Formats: sequence, structure tokens, C-alpha cells
Amino acid sequence: MSSLVLFDSNYGNTKIIAETIAAKLGAAAVSVAGLNASSLAGVDLLVVGSPIIGWKPSEKMQGFLAGLADGSLRGVKAAAFDTRVRLFIHGDAAKKISHALEQAGARIVATPQGFIVDGREGPLADGEVEKAAAWAGSIAIAVKP
Ligand SMILES: Cc1cc2nc3c(=O)[nH]c(=O)nc-3n(C[C@H](O)[C@H](O)[C@H](O)COP(=O)(O)O)c2cc1C
Repeated sequence: MSSLVLFDSNYGNTKIIAETIAAKLGAAAVSVAGLNASSLAGVDLLVVGSPIIGWKPSEKMQGFLAGLADGSLRGVKAAAFDTRVRLFIHGDAAKKISHALEQAGARIVATPQGFIVDGREGPLADGEVEKAAAWAGSIAIAVKP
């Protein structure tokens, strides 16, 4: 299975989560900034993550999602995550990303997941890297043939 973890990250926290998930899945972690048209070719499992910026995925991630044609992810299994601060009302990016991937035809294989950072620039809160590894483990089980 060819797996890809696609992420955006301003301060490196989402990148750490993406790389943790990628290591667990035996996948590459690729920044959305460096993505090109062929990056998704042949990918069977796509995990997408973004920081929440103003209650939504980052602009770059929104741009990527907006560019996904209907049906372009047919046959692809997918999951989404975000990083966020611990606020009473923090908004959501993971659910929005998950919805967009599903709209493009992907089959969602895990509950969208948020990971907490301590303040805007991080670092990640205690236990979040371990939580990411466990979440990735649940994806690996869900996509097992
Ligand atoms: C302009 C801006 C807006 C933000 N808006 C939100 C928000 O609406 N909800 C939230 O939980 N975190 C918000 N954050 C905090 C980010 O989610 C946090 O910076 C991010 O998780 C860090 O991940 P990164 O190091 O990968 O960029 C915001 C951060 C910035 C810079």
C-alpha cells in the first residue's frame, strides 16, 4: 500500500504529528507547500493534517482541498487531523478536511482527530505525540486487507 501524510505547519508542531503518523504507517510526510500534481498518483492511503487557523484549515490547506475534483480520490482511503490550542471554542479543521476528502471520493477510515499545542507556537502538549502514534495505529488496523 502506498501511503502519504500531507501537512501544513507554521511553527513545526503539525509537522511533528505528521512525521509521527508517517513513521507508524511507513509513509512519506510531505508539506502541502511542496506538493505537485503527481504527488497523489498511486496513493492508496492519504492522511491530511493542518493547524486550525481562524476556526478553519490553513489557507494553503484550504487551497489544496478546493483543488480536489469530485471523484479524484475515488478508491483512496483517508483520514484527517488538526493541531489546535486548548480553547473553549477552538473551531475545527480536521472535520472540515475529512469532509472535503470524502467529497472528493475518499473513504474515511478514522475519526477526525485534534492534537493540542500549548500556545500558538507550541510546543505540543504532553502525550500528544503518543496519541498521534496510537491514532496512526488505529488507521493501520482499519486499512489492513
Ligand atoms: C493566525 C492564527 C489563527 C489561529 N486560530 C486558531 C483557532 O481558531 N483555533 C485554534 O484552536 N487554534 C488557532 N491557532 C493556533 C494554531 O492552531 C497553532 O498555531 C497551530 O496548531 C500550531 O501548529 P504549527 O506549529 O504546525 O503551525 C491560530 C494560530 C494563528 C497563527
